[in-house]
Amino acid sequence: MEPITDKFGRPIRDLRISVTDRCNFRCSYCMPKEIFGDDYVFLPKNELLSFEEIERLAQLFAKLGVKKLRLTGGEPLMRRGLPELVGKLMKIEGIEDIGLTTNAVLLGQYAEPLYEAGLRRLNISLDALDPDLFGEMNGRGVKPELILKNIDKAHALGFTIKMNMVVKKGTNEQEILPMAQYFKERGITLRFIEFMDVGNDNGWSFEKVVTKKDILKRLQSVHALEPVEEEYYGEVAKRWSYKDNGAEVGFITSVSESFCSTCTRARLSSEGKLFTCLFASDGFDVRELIRDGATDEELAAAVTGVWENRADRYSDERTEQTVKNRKNKKINMSYIGG
Ligand code: GTP
Ligand code: 5AD
Ligand code: SF4
Ligand code: SF4
Repeated sequence: MEPITDKFGRPIRDLRISVTDRCNFRCSYCMPKEIFGDDYVFLPKNELLSFEEIERLAQLFAKLGVKKLRLTGGEPLMRRGLPELVGKLMKIEGIEDIGLTTNAVLLGQYAEPLYEAGLRRLNISLDALDPDLFGEMNGRGVKPELILKNIDKAHALGFTIKMNMVVKKGTNEQEILPMAQYFKERGITLRFIEFMDVGNDNGWSFEKVVTKKDILKRLQSVHALEPVEEEYYGEVAKRWSYKDNGAEVGFITSVSESFCSTCTRARLSSEGKLFTCLFASDGFDVRELIRDGATDEELAAAVTGVWENRADRYSDERTEQTVKNRKNKKINMSYIGG
């Protein structure tokens, strides 16, 4: 099959697969407690794509041009047996890279089986080193010590780790320099993520965004940094390196410098809906097709149709006005996995 492109000529390269909509954290910018309370109804097991269904779809996407897979959630380690899925995905022809995005709470338990299954890349979320602040931001009182311990374990096993820190004005800006120092010393890349208007309930506004420019200025008041060339077409983070030890930092600038023009990412929700943008409202129901007995050819034709019609560029178009005027609800971040 030919690699497919969308309305703006963007190829499909990456598939982000959400394996569960559940999470053991309640980060305010993603799953605010007021919305995701005790009575919140998550997807029942039979509505989730099975590992066999995920494997079949990943094989199909690989034939359409996907080279990179990323497993997300909610919190993907809450899906039982995840290493087994990794093992299946590792074998798919054409897949060059598999990553996992996790909050690392359960990593102490899963790092070894994941490594044995062939996984080598972890993106780990951590928003603060201060115990009280981190406990408050994750909504569950979990302390950073646990995450740091699990990071050490995974690092020692040989995983390549990148850290994700969402920076929110008035909340954790004071953590930028301590986080930078900590991960610089360990040679682990830290990426600063601009707070995004994902979902509908996270209290986002332009005023609460700390931009790449602000963060870089803070870093440069202490460290000498230089920009690093993009490694591949469509790389999400803008990378910089410390001149003295070569460790890197990155910036994910959905708000201040959008990157839609090179967006090659498709997203599959845990219930099997295909989305072509993080900020979309509706997805295409692939699970229904599968469970109705569609052949690989029929599935490929449906996915091709969705991608070829894709004209998403949400972040390119984001202004105060477009945010205010938006009528359709957006999908939740925890549902689509970032
Ligand atoms: P690698 O580059 O493979 O390491 O992964 P990644 O950075 O794309 O994935 P990760 O799950 O670590 O995401 C980091 C942040 O980037 C999250 O906040 C994502 O929501 C955000 N992100 C990833 N892809 C996109 C995208 O296409 N659009 C927007 N707006 N944000 C994205
Ligand atoms: N803005 C920016 N990043 C977010 N993430 C979750 N919600 C938001 C948001 N509103 C990040 C998580 C995780 C990644 C998958 O997405 O912290 O690192
Ligand atoms: Fe869970 Fe990640 Fe969302 Fe936090 S950002 S609530 S860890 S899915
Ligand atoms: Fe891709 Fe949508 Fe993100 Fe733009 S906003 S980079 S189109 S996912």
